[in-house]
Amino acid sequence: MKHFSILAVSTLAAVVAAQSAPNFAVQVQTNLRVDFLKSSTSVSPAGLLLPRDDVLDAPNAYGPADATEEATYILFMVDEDVDTGNGPRVQLLHYFLPNLVGIKHKLSVQPGASDATTAVGADYVEPGPPPGDIAYRYTLLLYPQPANFSVPAAYASFSPPANVNVRYPFNMSGLAEAAGLGQPIAANWIPCHRQQHHC
Ligand SMILES: *[C@@H]1O[C@H](CO)[C@@H](O)[C@H](O)[C@H]1NC(C)=O
Ligand SMILES: *[C@@H]1O[C@H](CO)[C@@H](O)[C@H](O)[C@H]1NC(C)=O
Repeated sequence: MKHFSILAVSTLAAVVAAQSAPNFAVQVQTNLRVDFLKSSTSVSPAGLLLPRDDVLDAPNAYGPADATEEATYILFMVDEDVDTGNGPRVQLLHYFLPNLVGIKHKLSVQPGASDATTAVGADYVEPGPPPGDIAYRYTLLLYPQPANFSVPAAYASFSPPANVNVRYPFNMSGLAEAAGLGQPIAANWIPCHRQQHHC
C-alpha cells in the first residue's frame, strides 16, 4: 500500500502548487502577489473569494519576492469561462498592462523605461459573469516583457479592444506564443459568482 500514499502526497502537492485557475491553458506554479484596491487584501491563497466591491477596480501586482534587480513585466487577467451559447466556453481578456516596472514591491507603469513598448494594452474590465451561471475563473499572469515587444497582428483587435465584445474569444497561450513571451513567472486567480454580493 505504500505507493498509494506516495501518490496521494504528490497529487496534493501538485494541487497546492498550481496558481493559475483550474483548467486554465497556462499553468504556473509560482504565486503572483496581487491585491485589489478597495480592501488591499492579498489574493492568498490563490482562488480566494473576494467581496464584489474589491474587484471593481484594477488590481495591483508585485514583483517576485526574491527579485534583486528591476525588470519590466506585462500583466494579464483572463476569464476562461465565457459562454457564447455556441460551443465550448472561451477566454475573455479583462486586463492587459505592459510596461510594468519594479523589483519586489508594487509594480508601476513606466512608459519611459529603457525596454518599454508602445504597444497599447487593454483597460481593466471588472468580472461580470451572468447571474445564475457557474463561478467564472479569472487568472492573473505576470510575464517578463521582452525587448521590442509588440502585439502580434492576429491579436491587434485586443490592443486596445474597441469594446467588450471584441475581448473574446481570446487565447492567452496563443498570444504568448506569437509574441515570444515565453512562460509567465507568476500567476494567481480569483473566482467570481454573482450571488450574495460576492465576486
Ligand atoms: C530591438 O530592435 C532594435 C531595432 O530594430 C534592434 O537593434 C535590437 O537588436 C532589438 N533588440 C532585441 C533584443 O531584439
Ligand atoms: C490557442 O493557441 C494555441 C497556441 O497557438 C493553440 O494550440 C490552441 O489551439 C489555441 N486555442 C484555441 C481555443 O483556439
